[in-house]
Amino acid sequence: MKEQGIRCMAISEKIQGFLSGSSWIRKMFEEGVSLKRQYGAENVFDFSLGNPNLEPPARFKELLRHVAGEDIPGMHGYMPNAGYLETRDAVASYLSREHGVSLSAEHIIMTCGAGGALNVILKALLDPGEEVIIPAPFFVEYRFYVDNSGGITKLVKTREDFSLDLGAIGDTFTEKTKIVLINSPNNPTGKVYDEATIRGLAALLEEKCRVYGRDIYLVSDEPYSDIVYDGVKVPSILLASKNGILASSYSKGLSLAGERIGFIALNPKIAGVEEVINGMILCNRILGFVNAPALMQRIVARMHGERVNVEEYKRKRDMLCDGLSSLGYQFTRPEGAFYLFARTPIEDDVAFVRALQRRKILTVPGSGFGGPGHFRIAYCVDDATIINAMEGFGQTLREYLQCLTP
Ligand SMILES: Cc1ncc(COP(=O)(O)O)c(C=O)c1O
Repeated sequence: MKEQGIRCMAISEKIQGFLSGSSWIRKMFEEGVSLKRQYGAENVFDFSLGNPNLEPPARFKELLRHVAGEDIPGMHGYMPNAGYLETRDAVASYLSREHGVSLSAEHIIMTCGAGGALNVILKALLDPGEEVIIPAPFFVEYRFYVDNSGGITKLVKTREDFSLDLGAIGDTFTEKTKIVLINSPNNPTGKVYDEATIRGLAALLEEKCRVYGRDIYLVSDEPYSDIVYDGVKVPSILLASKNGILASSYSKGLSLAGERIGFIALNPKIAGVEEVINGMILCNRILGFVNAPALMQRIVARMHGERVNVEEYKRKRDMLCDGLSSLGYQFTRPEGAFYLFARTPIEDDVAFVRALQRRKILTVPGSGFGGPGHFRIAYCVDDATIINAMEGFGQTLREYLQCLTP
C-alpha cells in the first residue's frame, strides 16, 4: 500500500534523466527487435549496433579449451587487482614492440574492457568539477563515464573531415582541465588521427601543463586500433606524449566484446607514475570490477599479434561506400573501425533516420553522438544486409532530394 505524500520513485532523478535522454543506439536496437518480429529478420536492415559480426580467430577456441582444461590451483580465485603478472608482462612486451617504447608489467593494468579501463582512469584522475575535453562527434558513453567520476565534459567540434581542430581544443582549456580524451580509430566517424595531429596535440598539452602549472593527461581510447584499412597506422600516444595513457581492449580486434577484457597502459614518464598506477589499481577494485576476468587474461596473453580478418571489414566498408556514393550520399571515407558517418540531406537527422526506418533500415542519428546533420551506419553486418538495404537507402535519399529541389 502506498503511503500518501511519499513520492514513489525507484531510481534517482539523475538516472531517470539519463534514461529518457540517452541512447539512440538502444532505442533503434529495441525498435529493430519489434520490426524483425513483425516483418522477419531478413527484411529488416539493422545497422544500429557496433557488435562485431566476425568470429574470434580459430586459435581463441583452441586456447579456451586448453586453458579451461588446465589444473592450476587457485586459477578461478582472486588475484592481484592489476591482473596476472604474466599477462601484464605479455601486454607490456607487445606494446613495447608495437609502440617503440619501453614498458614493463608495472605500467599495465588489466581491465574489464576499454569501458572499464576508461572508468578506472577517470575515477583515479578526476576531482569533482574537473574538466575532460572531448572532440565531437564522440562515443556516447563518454558523458556518462565522466559523470560517474564527478567530472565535466567539454565538447569541441572536429573539422568537416572529422580531423582534430587543435586551435579549438586549445581554446577549451581552463584551469580545471585535467584530461583530453580522444578516440582513434573513431566511433562514430571511422577517423584515424595522423601522426602530425597527435604530435601537435601532445605539444599543445605540454604547453597547457606549463601555463596552468599542473599535469594534464592525454587519454587515448583505442579498442579499434587493429581495425584499420589501406595501410593507415594509429600513431602511438605513449610515444607522442609524456602524459599519454592508453585505454584499449580485445573486444573488437579479437571479437571478444562479451568477454570484457582490456587494459590500461601508462607512459612510464608520467610524473609520480607509481602513485598514479596505485590509484588506478585501487579504482579497479573499488569500482567493483576487482580484477579483469581470469580465464580471458590467460588467453589474451597468448594471442598478441592475432586479430579477426580485417579484410572482411574492409570489403564491407568498400561495398557500403561504393553503394552509398553511387546513390549520391556524402561522407568522409572511414579509415578504421566499422562505422560510416554520412551526411543527412536535411538538417534534421532524427527525421531522416525515421524515414530510413520506415524502409526498415535502422541507423543512428548523429545528434546522439554530438554530430548533428549526420547518421551512423555500423557495417559489422552480413553482406546481404548491405546489399539489400541499398534500394531503401536510394529511395529515401531521392524522396528528400525531390522535396529540396525547387
Ligand atoms: C569508442 C569506444 N570506446 C570504448 C568502447 C567500449 O569497449 P569495450 O567493449 O572494450 O568496453 C566502445 C564500444 O563500442 C567504443 O566504441
